[in-house]
Amino acid sequence: MSSPQPPAGTADPTPSPVGLLAELTHRCPLQCPYCSNPLALERATGELDTATWLDVLAQAADLGVLQLHLSGGEPTVRRDLEDIVEQAAKVGLYCNLITAGVLLTRARLEELARRGLAHVQISIQDADVANADRIAGSAGAHAKKLEVARWVRALGLALTLNAPIHRRNIARLPEIIALAECLGAQRLEIAHVQYYGWALANRSALMPTREEVLRSANLVAAARQRLKGILAIDFVVPDYYARRPKPCMGGWGRGSINITPSGKALPCHAAETIPGLAFDNVRTRRLRDIWLHAEAFRAFRGTHWMREPCRSCELRERDWGGCRCQAFAVAGAAAEADPACDKSSLHAAFTAIAERVAREPAADFRYRTMRRS
Ligand code: FES
Repeated sequence: MSSPQPPAGTADPTPSPVGLLAELTHRCPLQCPYCSNPLALERATGELDTATWLDVLAQAADLGVLQLHLSGGEPTVRRDLEDIVEQAAKVGLYCNLITAGVLLTRARLEELARRGLAHVQISIQDADVANADRIAGSAGAHAKKLEVARWVRALGLALTLNAPIHRRNIARLPEIIALAECLGAQRLEIAHVQYYGWALANRSALMPTREEVLRSANLVAAARQRLKGILAIDFVVPDYYARRPKPCMGGWGRGSINITPSGKALPCHAAETIPGLAFDNVRTRRLRDIWLHAEAFRAFRGTHWMREPCRSCELRERDWGGCRCQAFAVAGAAAEADPACDKSSLHAAFTAIAERVAREPAADFRYRTMRRS
């Protein structure tokens, strides 16, 4: 890894991570064409066992983590999910289950709530049933998700709906907002698809036009006003149409840790796409040591690694240079400026890609199993 490291011997200003994303498995019954998991999924035989996860959660709480996000793949395929949730509650972590919902029964959700689950996040593909199922690649998935969302509220758990937005569902944004309202969700994440992982392979099937994105922003602004105090709405614009980069992960190695099904600790879900970084495994190194000292977490933490235009930018401690994985994917070096920033020399070409593909006829979805839409 060629990135410079922060000067040795200085006081370590590293804050504690707030969140831990535990990818319990990459197994998933759905086939979403914007899946952000790596192109090569980890196998079930390599997954961490229950005892290791329980120990990792205790270490996380000791390190100062406050929120645990149980994710995947589909975390409910793990038979030990109840034990993991119970441990999270025992060590004081606020426990959020990120699920497609399709494998849950009401009895299991009740048991998870009894063991300490506090919050459930369910992904919604569309408000149109047929299109939602087509996007998820699974017949009947949408109806089951709505049923699970109702159970979540009936059990008194907090509910967030996550709606990835793209050219195949953006026209129904008002109906998606109405659905969240009707289900009694506390929060709705309207997140334009970010083009990493499998989503990059489907970019021309998913990219909306600039006009559609602007309309969606106006719709969200109006809905936020109307639903103030009832439904919180988060909005993520696609990087390709942004002027300033998002502070990806709140800054590399600043606020959260991802742990893959096999135990690799990553600063973000796509970090393995950056060549030259070595990732420690929680089977062999303590979480605190990884967070504070592992090379991968220190490589792009703070501002020491920045080149121009980031180095002298007045926003460098606000956006932390944007996304390192996107910088590598587009500029060929993770220390370059994120091309989502209009100060990047690649910004115009980056935006032009979106403008071009959004105006071409939408390609068929490429599913991981290569089924056609
Ligand atoms: Fe890795 Fe943005 S996804 S830094």
